[in-house]
Amino acid sequence: MKAIISASAIVALAFLSLSTTPVHSFQSGCPTNGPLSCPTPTMAVNDCCVEVASGQFILSQAWDVNPSVGPANSFVISRLLTDKCDGTFEQNCDASRDYTGISDLLNAQGPPGFLSKMQTFWPADAGNQDEQLWEQVWAASGTCLSTLDLSCLPAGSPMGADAVAYFNATMNLFESLPTYQWLSNAKVLPSSDQTYTLDNLISVLQSTYGYTPAIECKDNVLIKVNWYFNLKGSFADGEFVPFDAPQSSTCASSGIQYLPKTTTAQ
Ligand SMILES: *[C@@H]1O[C@H](CO)[C@@H](O)[C@H](O)[C@H]1NC(C)=O
Repeated sequence: MKAIISASAIVALAFLSLSTTPVHSFQSGCPTNGPLSCPTPTMAVNDCCVEVASGQFILSQAWDVNPSVGPANSFVISRLLTDKCDGTFEQNCDASRDYTGISDLLNAQGPPGFLSKMQTFWPADAGNQDEQLWEQVWAASGTCLSTLDLSCLPAGSPMGADAVAYFNATMNLFESLPTYQWLSNAKVLPSSDQTYTLDNLISVLQSTYGYTPAIECKDNVLIKVNWYFNLKGSFADGEFVPFDAPQSSTCASSGIQYLPKTTTAQ
């Protein structure tokens, strides 16, 4: 009897440790030295390895102060805008993959601490639910990407692996663009009384990263910094290739306010 109990305890333990180790990571097996996603390839390509539904991505980082959203010392993800290289885009492409419970999927399949990272750096606007934002973003944009199509998922992928890969890759891209840090290193800090020129902001970011973002203002208050990319390989694990913003910034040339948040630093 004793032996039987401990044997089943061992089985239970083994099962527990199995279920807590990461079960999956989306490895596309695609090269990152293939064609660029823009202009959209006209010859036949493997659309699991070349993103044909959205060749251009704009990672839009938000700086919201009233009410404050996110840490006092970081931009947050506002949106990853997708574009078919020509100003048009697709939306809501596969209702059969409009997942609910994205938070649970991120918790179960994302890297350690991923859900909390999402809550910190990709939060909904004040008063809204993160879960609803993520469900809507995935359904609207993620389901359209050719390289995250179900047919591109590695064999044995759990349900939702496509969505987890979408958020993971977007977060990786966001983390490669520490806009607040870059500005702060150049002594461009949020301030209630100091203002900045557009040249000043752009040249700090351009000289640090090597590419020009577009900066958005509302009433000449900085609200967003937008970074532009094409893609080589799969969205899941490909290489985002930056390029200079084709759009100009919406701020005036001077008197720009970059206001402090009322939240604490992360
Ligand atoms: C998330 O991104 C990291 C960093 O690139 C990668 O090592 C990991 O495999 C990814 N995980 C998933 C689930 O895609």
